[in-house]
Amino acid sequence: MQQLSLFRDLTVFDPDYLPDNLLFREREIEVLARTFSPMLLGYRPLNNVYIYGLPATGKTAAARMLLRKLPSRDPPDLPEKKGKRGVVTCYINLAAKRTLAQLAGEIRQEVTGDEGIGRYLPYMEKVFEHLRNTGKSLLLVLDDFNAFPERLDDFLQLFLRPEEHKKKYTDIVTGVLLIASGEVVLNSRVRSTLSPVELEFKDYTVEQKFEILKMRCIQGFGRHAISEKLVMEVAERAADLRHALAVLRYAGGVADVKIRKEHIDEAFAAVKADKARHEAALSELEKFLLSTIRSSPRPLSSGELLARCHENGHNITIQWLGKRLERLQSLGLVSSRLVNGRGRTRIWYCE
Ligand SMILES: Nc1ncnc2c1ncn2[C@@H]1O[C@H](COP(=O)(O)OP(=O)(O)OP(=O)(O)O)[C@@H](O)[C@H]1O
Ligand SMILES: [Mg+2]
Repeated sequence: MQQLSLFRDLTVFDPDYLPDNLLFREREIEVLARTFSPMLLGYRPLNNVYIYGLPATGKTAAARMLLRKLPSRDPPDLPEKKGKRGVVTCYINLAAKRTLAQLAGEIRQEVTGDEGIGRYLPYMEKVFEHLRNTGKSLLLVLDDFNAFPERLDDFLQLFLRPEEHKKKYTDIVTGVLLIASGEVVLNSRVRSTLSPVELEFKDYTVEQKFEILKMRCIQGFGRHAISEKLVMEVAERAADLRHALAVLRYAGGVADVKIRKEHIDEAFAAVKADKARHEAALSELEKFLLSTIRSSPRPLSSGELLARCHENGHNITIQWLGKRLERLQSLGLVSSRLVNGRGRTRIWYCE
């Protein structure tokens, strides 16, 4: 029996694989491209942008698609500016950076190609000098914005208004795309300098997840490796798309001829969703529910939870509470079971 023979292209299931098309995100990518396209001609972008949304909703993928497409896009219908020649782009994941010097070092390396270890401000000046000399504008994508340990207010103020630092930087054009899964906190001065438009990436429906996964299976597996029914099952059971892709990859690795139900079950038992990522992105109400259930010495009924919500100023209905609890359960953060009391009651607890 050949090993891994089900795969046509294993990279299709890599977490950072970027497909040729991002289904259901065409509109968002077009909005981003239009917003930043004036930079191709040396104008400021229409706006800076802040993308937010739940984990695995395609935020990073859409930003990378923008960076892939923007430099070769037809420039907008505006008069060309003298001495201005295109845009350089720089993508940085802040979860992988600890200090401002590291951040500035990476921007400098991306923009000028120079490597080395040094100090923050001289590095940024090198970047600005390069932009001045080449006439290029710079689009910076800061992904996982909330993961950076320091506040970035001063950095953003410098990056977006370099002329406040040195007069000779007056003509430099910069733009920023921030990405976060929770709320971004900035001081009011930076907020007004940045004045970002906010673009929410809504969670995919199960049907949308199914379409995306089906497309990946066609690209990644050989013909007839998996049935549509099983792809739908993965779409329904997985906590999110990233989890679903990891499950499919695992199942493809353990099956020999065709992926069957038992391979999917085995994959779900082995591959867990990234709970910490989801927990960080919970709403205030969901965080409140989770901490209430966690800190309770005994399971709590839905009715008791509703009462706690009301006591703490969350004026919600039992239906809305049920939806939030179901979401926490689908993320594997809480569990529930039905018990016989006065009628059937659902109780909630943490394992
Ligand atoms: N519309 C889509 N079409 C195809 N693949 C997608 C789509 N949206 C997301 N994916 C895939 O799902 C996975 C997660 O997407 P991505 O990394 O962009 O999520 P994210 O919103 O940045 O999540 P996080 O907030 O956790 O960083 C990636 O493998 C990505 O390629
Ligand atoms: Mg991301």
